Amino acid sequence: LPPLFFTRHGQSEYNIEDRLGGNPVLTPAGEDDARVIGKFFEREVSTNAQLFGARDEAWEMNEGFEVWCSQLIRTQQTAQPTADVLTKGMTRRWRSLNEIHAGVCEDMTNQEVMGQFPSLHNFRKLNKVAFRYPSGESYLDLMIRLKPVLLELEATRKCVVVVAHQAVLRTLLSYFGGPPVEEAVTAECPHRTVWCCTFDHSGCPRLATIALPS
Ligand code: F6P
Repeated sequence: LPPLFFTRHGQSEYNIEDRLGGNPVLTPAGEDDARVIGKFFEREVSTNAQLFGARDEAWEMNEGFEVWCSQLIRTQQTAQPTADVLTKGMTRRWRSLNEIHAGVCEDMTNQEVMGQFPSLHNFRKLNKVAFRYPSGESYLDLMIRLKPVLLELEATRKCVVVVAHQAVLRTLLSYFGGPPVEEAVTAECPHRTVWCCTFDHSGCPRLATIALPS
């Protein structure tokens, strides 16, 4: 099986304000994140994938790649430089890859949530995986929503680069060899980082984290 790659969108306008959800664009720094990620894949392809071994045929054929993102602008902007390198600019945009929906808290800052809904904030801390935002989603909901993506990633023979969001990535990485989801939900999910999942002979996933230069 060819490797799978995962990365978060670059810094968005909402990230600098610590604001949840919405559909913000990238900041100039975020556009730079996107370029750095694209360069990483360009280097990987041109050096014949030294990091992960040239034995994967997918590396040799451009049609062996796919770049997936969500239907939100920040992942599309981030995916573009990588898609330009790997798939002649083509991306597949999944609604299922959209960020967790924060319901009544969408577009609010974490500070505002704490001020307006103090008990919601405490409740969420008690069980972050199961907590569902009023009119929104929980991490458990997210797992169900991501099931078609997981099934296709497991079945594909292509080398897929998935550009997604913090909560979505925590859930996906947990499935592909990362920490258990109870742990993952409180871990920071940095920008400018590529996670590479390779599979051993029995199909067991192994996850490597590659922090890209700033
Ligand atoms: O803050 C960025 C973000 O992607 C939000 O859109 C989302 O609600 C949040 O991260 C998910 O992280 P957490 O579950 O830790 O709030």
